[in-house]
Amino acid sequence: MNTPKNHQIIIAQTPGGPDVLAVETREIPTLGPDEVLIQTRACGINRPDQFERMGFYPPPAGAPEGLGLEAAGLVAALGADVKGISLGDRVMALVSGGGYSDYVIAKAGAVLPVPEAVELADAGGLPETVFTVWANVFDTAGLSRGETLLVHGGASGIGTTAIQMGKAAGAKVIATAGSDERCALCRELGADLAINYREADFEAEVLEAGGADVILDMVGGDYVAKNINCANTGGRIVSIAFLKGSLIEADFMRVMLKQLVLTGSTLRSRPDAEKARLAAQIRETVLPWLEEGKLRPIIDQRFELADVAKAHERLDSGAQAGKILLMI
Ligand SMILES: NC(=O)c1ccc[n+]([C@@H]2O[C@H](COP(=O)([O-])OP(=O)(O)OC[C@H]3O[C@@H](n4cnc5c(N)ncnc54)[C@H](OP(=O)(O)O)[C@@H]3O)[C@@H](O)[C@H]2O)c1
Repeated sequence: MNTPKNHQIIIAQTPGGPDVLAVETREIPTLGPDEVLIQTRACGINRPDQFERMGFYPPPAGAPEGLGLEAAGLVAALGADVKGISLGDRVMALVSGGGYSDYVIAKAGAVLPVPEAVELADAGGLPETVFTVWANVFDTAGLSRGETLLVHGGASGIGTTAIQMGKAAGAKVIATAGSDERCALCRELGADLAINYREADFEAEVLEAGGADVILDMVGGDYVAKNINCANTGGRIVSIAFLKGSLIEADFMRVMLKQLVLTGSTLRSRPDAEKARLAAQIRETVLPWLEEGKLRPIIDQRFELADVAKAHERLDSGAQAGKILLMI
């Protein structure tokens, strides 16, 4: 495979709306010894990309230039120390930047093979959500078979992944979403109960259904107190975003009496070694779920790389269910 000198990346020219996004040509940097160059087939769009475009979420030091946190494609070049990956392999990768590109540079530790059962392009929308759900629901919160997982934002990219991974692990899954149609998608993906939070009080419904042992929350605000109320004794509540705000009022007496654990994390800023540790766990447990069809990418819409502004308009609308993809 001949590797080109240049690649196209997407940058936000100034903080702002989708129209600030521009395709720019850059020389492909020399690969580090632990890096892999991927000829991209598709890359996923994630909510943090909107925050970065608007100037609220600067990339961590050393991140590749340009937007984008994930991609899938064929291995086009390998750093000197990379082992276990070959030229031409079908791979997907979690990256800390530069994912919207025809040639993406990834750390080898965060590169995973794409199972045969998954279309290479569809895999472009998997790494960010799979790593996030694995890190928070399984690695941190320790969801186990027979427990109940409550997933807020069940129709989002993270939510659709969390529902399927929860079911694959043998948990009971309850999801919340903002319309009957979005609840139907959650049930189709395996949720035992899907609650339209605009029409019903999720706290009462979850308590009625027996409470939750693990809660994955991206909403925050008044959800935090409600989560505390509907968590079972020994419950673990993990916050990954605060769409309704992070300053909250809640009765922490219940945290003490129910021995709850409240925690949270971000993925992008974690050290490479930490991402490699998560990748090894995902390889062992989640890739077989993809191979067996227990987990599949849920794609909302696909756009060409040059139409990245339209793709971000879709992101900004909040109407998407599952992932938006950029196709190369
Ligand atoms: N911490 C981390 O490591 C990490 C990593 C990746 C992503 N994230 C965060 O995780 C969240 C999900 O990301 P995503 O890209 O999959 O999806 P997304 O498009 O941001 O989805 C957010 C979901 O939240 C729901 N929602 C929004 N506002 C709400 C409100 N006021 N009340 C209740 N529900 C509300 C929406 O569901 P309905 O339309 O059905 O209401 C929507 O599906 C984002 O906020 C993202 O920044 C965090």
